[in-house]
Order: sequence, then C-alpha cells, then structure tokens
Amino acid sequence: MQQKNPPMNFDLSPEQEMIRNTVRDFVDKEVIPAARENDLKERFPKELLQKMAPLGFLGGPIPVEYGGAGLDYISHAIITEEIGRGCSSLRTTLSVQISLVELTILKWGTEEQKKKYLPKLCKGEMLGCFGLTEPDAGSDAGNQSTTAVLKGSEWLINGAKIWISNGTVADIAIVFAQTDKSKKHKGIAAFLIEKGTKGFTANKITGKLGLRSSDTGELVFEQCRVTKENLLGEVGDGFKIAMYALDNGRYSVAAGSVGIIQGCLDACVKYAKQRQQFGKPIGGFQLIQEKIAKMAVDLDAARLLVYRAGHLKNKGIKNTTETSMAKLYASEAAVNAASEAIQIHGAYGYSNEYPLERYYRDAKVATIYEGTSEIQKLIIGSSLLGIKAFV
Ligand code: CAA
Repeated sequence: MQQKNPPMNFDLSPEQEMIRNTVRDFVDKEVIPAARENDLKERFPKELLQKMAPLGFLGGPIPVEYGGAGLDYISHAIITEEIGRGCSSLRTTLSVQISLVELTILKWGTEEQKKKYLPKLCKGEMLGCFGLTEPDAGSDAGNQSTTAVLKGSEWLINGAKIWISNGTVADIAIVFAQTDKSKKHKGIAAFLIEKGTKGFTANKITGKLGLRSSDTGELVFEQCRVTKENLLGEVGDGFKIAMYALDNGRYSVAAGSVGIIQGCLDACVKYAKQRQQFGKPIGGFQLIQEKIAKMAVDLDAARLLVYRAGHLKNKGIKNTTETSMAKLYASEAAVNAASEAIQIHGAYGYSNEYPLERYYRDAKVATIYEGTSEIQKLIIGSSLLGIKAFV
C-alpha cells in the first residue's frame, strides 16, 4: 500500500508552523478561557465562530476563489487539532462546517451551488449541518427511510434525521433521502435544504454526556418541497456523497482527538512536576511516568496517522482506509488519555476545576460519531481482506 505512495515529509513547512502558532495563540486566549463556562451552561459559542472566520479558520482547505484559505490538508489538521485541544464542542462545529459540508459542496456542487454557499460558509455567515443519520440508519447509513419523491419540477421530502451536529443552528443542511427503495443505496439522493424552507423544522437534543456547548438536533421534513436546483450531485449519488463526506469528517474527528491527547499530556506533565506526595513530585514515581509515556507515544502515533491520511489527501490518493485508521486510533487513544489524565490528577481531575473531566466526556463521542470504532475496524478489515463485512 505505502510503496505506491510518494514519500511523506515529516517536517512541517514554515507556513504550517506559523499556522499552528496563530491557532494555538487564538485557542489559548479565546477558546480555553470560555470552554468551561460554555460547557456548564450548554451555550453554543457563536461569537467565537465570528472571531475565527476572519482568521480563515472556517474555510481552511477551501480554495481562495470560493472564500476559503486554500490550505493543504496537513494545515487543516493542525487547525482542527489546536481547536480540539481547546474545546471539542467548538471543534465539532468546525468539523461539520468544513469537512462534512463545505468540502462536500466543493466536490459535488454545481458551480452555482459552490458560488452561492461556499463564501458564506467560509465567512461564518452561514452554518451547515449534515443530515444522514436516522433513528434506524446509524451505522447502516444506506438504510435511509427519509424519502424524496419527484412531483413535476419539485421534490417532496418526508422523514426525520437524528443526532445532527449543528442541527438547530445551521442555515443549510445536506440531507440524504431515498428516491427508490428497490435500488437500495443506489437510490439515495443528496439535497441542499435551507433553514426556513416550508416543511423543514429542527428541534434541539439535550442531555448529552459531553459536547455540551455544541448544538445537536433532530431535523424533521414534512411535505417539504425543494426544487431540482437543491439536488447535490445526481439522483443515486447520495450514498457515495455521504461516504466521501465521511472520509473528510473522520479525518477532522481524528485531528480533534489528537488535540485532546495533547491537552491531556500538557496538563499531566505540568501537574506531575508540581504535585508533591511522599515528599517528592509524583512525576518521580514510575507508575506516573508509565502513564505519561503511553500518552506521549499515543499522541505521536495518532498525529502521524492523521498526517499520513492528510498527505494522501494532498496527493489526491484514495485514503478511506488510512483515514479510518487515524480516526480509530486517535479517538480511542483520546478516551484513554483523558481517563489516565484524570487518574494522574486524582480528585482534582474529577472536578471541573481542570479541563480533564470535560476532555473525558468529550472524547467518548469521537469513538461513536462519524462511524463507530467498530465500523472503522470493519472498513479497515474489509479493505485488507477484500471481503465485505457488511453483508
Ligand atoms: N467514498 C466513495 N464511495 C464509497 C466509499 C467512499 N469512502 N465507501 C463506499 N463507497 C461506495 C462503494 O464504492 C459502493 O459503490 P457501488 O454501489 O457503486 O459499488 C457503495 O458506496 C456501497 O459501498 P459498500 O457496499 O461498501 O457499503 P456498505 O453499505 O456495505 O457499508 C459502511 C458502508 C462503511 C458501513 C457505511 O454505511 C458507513 O460508513 N457507515 C457508518 C455511517 C456513519 O459513519 N455515520 C455517521 C453519521 S454522520 C455524523 O455523525 C455527523 C454528525 O453530525 C457528527
């Protein structure tokens, strides 16, 4: 697999280093100080998005001609990673906005759709969401119950989507619907549906373990009429569009998870040097060093897996398997790092005085959304064996 790929450069370019410093500075000054309060109040931080837009953080990999920053995928990962270090709720908003919505419109949209939506999305004038998941279509994304029926020149959409990040704050939704059940996944179509379209409502979902300052909603379509101009790609392309989007979304989730591990490691190294027990810093105890060493190795491994997938994306090489590897490894390692970081901090780690309990609550969802860890393992296994695991 690797032999076919061009060599990967392990050094970041001066531009990438500068991007990391700029985002890190922004995260330390703006994101981290607000994260605890926003989490406690379950408050969606729209004002942070408005501050991020002029810095180019809302349209990193989108070409400049469509309002983006025209960055490569490693730079995109660096931005996502740093935001993830600060607040996974905000990172989730960003992942959906850029990776599931903007990049999908960029790849599958008509020139008119790209010009209409991308500049506004990159400027934060519009937020987007991705309506794939349904009550009975989670891992089995091809089993869509939402229907789209062509009536003259209009499509009539009926159905419901659930667990949709940015669901109630989004101005535009990419919505997947079945046009012909007999064709199974080949009957699915994707639509761009704007907030305010008659027959389209969104309701907030609360009570989440983590990601409490991110917005999660249910989208409901009742006799919702859209025109042929709302179709994204061709009828029947829907499933491929969803999978393409998830190849990007999973990359972003993986990068965000790297940010969580980095945050845990930074906190643990600092605390283990300060905290005294039995007359010496706890960092002097081998059992603490073992935990910190494991965290550091996981951080490097996860980051390198992300950058490898980003390198393939930069080259335009198919990267579904490598992206799944990065998402699987980074998200599981983030859960583990957050758990161990709490352990190292003892009772302080269990309290929201430190960000570790939030990291822990936020990390878990990365092993679930945009494809569970089990789905990532099956994607990797199927690709290695050439045997489908889903039939
Ligand atoms: N890119 C492009 N096309 C792809 C693709 C990819 N990565 N993966 C598959 N396809 C194509 C295949 O080539 C195939 O095309 P043909 O029909 O023309 O041959 C077609 O899609 C079907 O592929 P499979 O037979 O492999 O599909 P499957 O049904 O067996 O399994 C799956 C697919 C991997 C299980 C998939 O359903 C999946 O990823 N499930 C998880 C869904 C998921 O991640 N949901 C997350 C919801 S979004 C979310 O969480 C957003 C949020 O708000 C945070």
